[in-house]
Amino acid sequence: MIVVYGAGGIGCYVGGRLAAGGAPVTFVGRQRMADEVAEHGLRLTDYLGADLRVDPVRFETTPAAAAEADLVLVTVKSAATAGAADELAEILRPGAVVVSFQNGVRNGEVLRSRLTEQVVVTGMVPFNVLNRGAGVFHQGTEGALDIQRDAAMTPYLDAFERAGLPLTQHDDILPVQWSKLLLNLNNPINALSNLPLRDELSQRDYRRCLAAAQAEALELLHAVGIRPAQLLAVPMHRFPAVLRLPDFLFRRLASKVLAVDPLARTSMWEDLEAGRPTEIDYLNGEVVRLASSLGRGAPVNSRLADLIREAGTDRRAWSGPELWHTLRLAM
Ligand SMILES: NC(=O)c1ccc[n+]([C@@H]2O[C@H](COP(=O)([O-])OP(=O)(O)OC[C@H]3O[C@@H](n4cnc5c(N)ncnc54)[C@H](OP(=O)(O)O)[C@@H]3O)[C@@H](O)[C@H]2O)c1
Repeated sequence: MIVVYGAGGIGCYVGGRLAAGGAPVTFVGRQRMADEVAEHGLRLTDYLGADLRVDPVRFETTPAAAAEADLVLVTVKSAATAGAADELAEILRPGAVVVSFQNGVRNGEVLRSRLTEQVVVTGMVPFNVLNRGAGVFHQGTEGALDIQRDAAMTPYLDAFERAGLPLTQHDDILPVQWSKLLLNLNNPINALSNLPLRDELSQRDYRRCLAAAQAEALELLHAVGIRPAQLLAVPMHRFPAVLRLPDFLFRRLASKVLAVDPLARTSMWEDLEAGRPTEIDYLNGEVVRLASSLGRGAPVNSRLADLIREAGTDRRAWSGPELWHTLRLAM
């Protein structure tokens, strides 16, 4: 049995696709999500026009539902990983396989330190999923699921294949995770802009902020010998230069980046709106942590992290020129 632990956007979509492909899936999540799915069922759509329904859906709200799991997909936000791991440690059988399908670079480690009798494998979800309400989960962008190569996953490769979500296996997942993290450095910028992603990324000053955050991280990664994997058409180390291009050139050269749903925003924006903790400590905060491990600073990422923390209590929209000015003062 496959259990999705923390059934929200990613969990309902990935687990739903697995269930639609014929795999036995149990979802474990919050009551409000259980109610939504009980009322409307689960419907999965994607940017290519797929439209699948999952019926019936086994959705539970207590950790005990994961007791019989052979494979657990952990899809809680990073701040909830330790708590989820402690709950799972109480009930999972030894040898069960636990996959982190989360952003950031340390969730695998957190799970491994608490689930010492299970096999923990680190994965990465490259695409965006939006809960459109009424049980509809939409994959808005392309990309295949990535995972650390591990023999423990062999029995499940077919299920992911049948779900239309084949796993790309990597001998070293860390460079893949860091690449995703470099892209996620836009999350606070998007949240502070209070704009949909497409509108934000269309403006050069916001892109300058992202370029500065990425350039700072790239320099640190270079210092510790991590070479980010190439996730998009442009190698990661060239990304800041592309972001700094004038708007008309960026629109022409990076049309794919702007080809997102016109209403799509980052989950950090959603978290701020809902008054929930954000993943800032696991994204920009991770860059700051890397810098301090080298006895250095990461002023751009540090400032962005501070602004998000302040936005938790004092929300305002930052224009591109304002945000860029503030970050330049920090450099
Ligand atoms: N959404 C995307 O497009 C996307 C894309 C790629 C990667 N990711 C990454 O995937 C991860 C999950 O993101 P998401 O957007 O799917 O988050 P999400 O929608 O917030 O889903 C997580 C769900 O898990 C619940 N949860 C937390 N702790 C739990 C526990 N102990 N037991 C049961 N349920 C629990 C949460 O409830 P509460 O809110 O009540 O805690 C929430 O409903 C994050 O690391 C994110 O960065 C997201």
